[in-house]
Amino acid sequence: MHLPDLKQARIRTNYKPLIKEYRLEEKYKNIGNNKKYFIRTYGCQMNEHDSENIKAMMESLGYILTDILEEANVVILNTCAIRENVHNKVFGYLGRIKHLRETKDDIITCVCGCMAQEENVANEIKNKYKWVDIVFGTHNLDKLPEFLYGAINEKIQQIEVYSIEGDIVECIPAKRDSKYKAWINIMYGCDKFCTYCIVPYTRGKQRSREKESILKEVNDLLSNGYKEVTLLGQNVNAYGKDLYDDYDMCNLLEDVAKTNIERIRFVTSHPWDFTDKMIEIIAKYPNIMPYIHLPLQSGSNRILKLMGRRYTKEDYLTLFHKLKSNIPNVSITTDIIVGFPNETDEDFNDTLDIVNECKYDSAFTFIFSPRVGTPASRMEDNVSKEAKEKRLYLLNNLVNEYALMNNKKYVNRVVPVLIEGNSEKGDSLFGYTDTMKLVNVTGDCKIGNIVDIKITDAKTWSLDGTIVDKNSI
Ligand code: SAH
Ligand code: SF4
Ligand code: F3S
Repeated sequence: MHLPDLKQARIRTNYKPLIKEYRLEEKYKNIGNNKKYFIRTYGCQMNEHDSENIKAMMESLGYILTDILEEANVVILNTCAIRENVHNKVFGYLGRIKHLRETKDDIITCVCGCMAQEENVANEIKNKYKWVDIVFGTHNLDKLPEFLYGAINEKIQQIEVYSIEGDIVECIPAKRDSKYKAWINIMYGCDKFCTYCIVPYTRGKQRSREKESILKEVNDLLSNGYKEVTLLGQNVNAYGKDLYDDYDMCNLLEDVAKTNIERIRFVTSHPWDFTDKMIEIIAKYPNIMPYIHLPLQSGSNRILKLMGRRYTKEDYLTLFHKLKSNIPNVSITTDIIVGFPNETDEDFNDTLDIVNECKYDSAFTFIFSPRVGTPASRMEDNVSKEAKEKRLYLLNNLVNEYALMNNKKYVNRVVPVLIEGNSEKGDSLFGYTDTMKLVNVTGDCKIGNIVDIKITDAKTWSLDGTIVDKNSI
């Protein structure tokens, strides 16, 4: 048993991450034959991609994916710690599984991901959920086959969570959710330590993958017919800084662009590390999509400072306008937190001012959620729950107004859309524009193609369109 330790998780040394290679031991193969697994994933794209790794590992053991909880022999909850809400959902799920176990006691339950890295969560499971079979964290995802083997053969609770700076494990297989677009990790962890954020504690030190491994992954995807890659990291603009003296995100973007994969995206960009050179490269290569997610968090300099964001609203606006004027047709989205400890109406109005100036294409908005172990969770908070909710409501209304306004500009334009599949109702297709707008498409064409679509209507969250490129039908 190894439990997490948040104090330990804060430590940064000059440790050089080891690069390990995943290998599946012979004795683990077939342990899942004729058995099913069920997985729920919460959180960011990195967690989505971790779940793609988990699925591939499970299937290499013989397990088959099911979407019906009651059918599962193994239930995996890949969790997120960024805000309180997932915590409640995960423990709600554990309640359902406990109930299910009353009639079916051979279910193996695994909790993994960022919540497992939280001391309070791991301890609660250890003390009050003794029937949960496996808890592992973000640093030892590759050990899943070993943990399952242990759970099947030893039948004792296995909690293995390490609060370390972390290494890099290459060659974990992935069962990708899409045949056309793929996530690629370019770096793990984060060293920014924004005062509200748990990620540096749950994911460890910033560590970039070697450029050769990333480019090989892009080329493999390309030869398997993939059209789009999204380069993933908490802070992709800082790529390479921990690994190379003379190779950074600009070089990587350029090298990925030169593979000629049709679409390249990257998330998330911290405004702090966004260089002019990067803007130049995004503008230069047509296969780097004109879409940037640029988290603001707050429009108040006082709050930005308390958040430890390392930029002022003036810095942010300068960068924002540079992006808008240098990258034709760029769409920019953001993240905003309201109700940070002691945020005043004036601070909040500063945020609204920035939204009015930037007129974002879309924004993810959140009420501040104190995360145990972070400096902001220890700040005294005198903002009432009502004030926070009211601010979120006002902010969302404004954000939605601009989202609709921006979407309306697309009506009657012809835009390239990567068609990803049939809509849920089955009566249309859906896909995304280069600028990351969701489009519901009427007409018939091959899924997986990038097709010219004439936009016929605009809504707040999506566009409607019809196919104009007859050749692709
Ligand atoms: N690395 C990215 C953000 C990753 S987390 C960046 O630095 O921009 C995604 C978003 O969750 C953040 O941008 C922030 O808006 C929000 N978030 C993070 N911690 C939060 C907290 N404690 N309470 C509320 N929202 C939070
Ligand atoms: Fe969290 Fe800040 Fe790192 Fe983003 S940059 S993951 S908000 S600590
Ligand atoms: Fe959540 Fe962990 Fe991602 S906390 S947002 S799953 S890095």
